[in-house]
Amino acid sequence: MRDPVKNILITGSKGQLGREFQDLAAGYSDYRFLFTDKENLDITSADALAEYFRQNTIDTVINCAGYTSVDAAEENVDLVKMVNARAVGQLAEAAASVNALLVHLSTDYVFDGQSSRPYTESSPANPRSVYGKSKLDGELEVILNATRSVIIRTSWLYSPYGQNFMKTVLSKVKQEKSLKVVFDQVGTPTYAADLAKAILDILPGMPAKIRGEIFNYSNEGVCSWYDFAHAIIETEGLYCKLVPVLSKELQTAASRPHYSVLDKSRIKKVFGIEIPHWRDGLRRCLEKM
Ligand SMILES: NC(=O)c1ccc[n+]([C@@H]2O[C@H](COP(=O)([O-])OP(=O)(O)OC[C@H]3O[C@@H](n4cnc5c(N)ncnc54)[C@H](OP(=O)(O)O)[C@@H]3O)[C@@H](O)[C@H]2O)c1
Repeated sequence: MRDPVKNILITGSKGQLGREFQDLAAGYSDYRFLFTDKENLDITSADALAEYFRQNTIDTVINCAGYTSVDAAEENVDLVKMVNARAVGQLAEAAASVNALLVHLSTDYVFDGQSSRPYTESSPANPRSVYGKSKLDGELEVILNATRSVIIRTSWLYSPYGQNFMKTVLSKVKQEKSLKVVFDQVGTPTYAADLAKAILDILPGMPAKIRGEIFNYSNEGVCSWYDFAHAIIETEGLYCKLVPVLSKELQTAASRPHYSVLDKSRIKKVFGIEIPHWRDGLRRCLEKM
């Protein structure tokens, strides 16, 4: 007998990743998606969460909600902690109340970037920004409060939706003759559509009793932000003089890791997925736009 249709709650569904789940939903007929965002399900409200979980049958929660403005976070510490940590604890409790699986998203910014080798799931975290710290606290909230949970750490998300580096580069090259981009921060850009698809594809193989397990997921390959900008304008056939600069020459409010490449061996081995190269993801994203 076929499994009944599973209900998946997507929080923060108007963000980059959430929108990609919306685009993919039609291709996953075994799932019924409940798309919510701040206006109809504010995860900082325990009452709203309790009410929502009372009124709806939920098998899986994919938490795409978050405070993601890394620099602004330095000035908005209380709100960032609330959204990225305390609210995540409340969501984890709500998921636990109906024994739903919670899939939570975290970040490469939990690392200090001092390594020169890809970070595994067991590498020690040491965030250097308010955002990174709040995301690490959010991971702990998931581990403590959800009865069934996985944490997916990802990096450098971009998509046709919302605000991201790729869209900033595309708009700036149309206005400016030259653009300074840092070349001493190295990581991997991740097309949000590839991440969303990977999450949906690993769900059927998720062990029933999984709790607090961390998996890294980014696209394959490695580059600096400078290389990424170069690939964006090259793929689009645009011209702009790109000037490689050091991070210290472009002061930002938040400190970012110099190296944050994620080792994806674990997710590939456990779930048997293949991960596209970041250049391939970029090409598909630009085509979609
Ligand atoms: N962006 C990256 O480069 C990156 C890298 C690594 C990991 N991640 C993680 O991946 C996840 C998804 O990121 P993303 O880029 O898709 O983020 P995003 O585009 O900023 O989307 C986040 C969504 O959450 C919503 N939200 C904020 N506060 C909320 C609340 N209290 N209740 C419900 N929804 C709320 C936002 O609404 P408003 O816009 O109206 O506030 C927005 O729609 C996040 O956990 C993020 O930390 C992101």
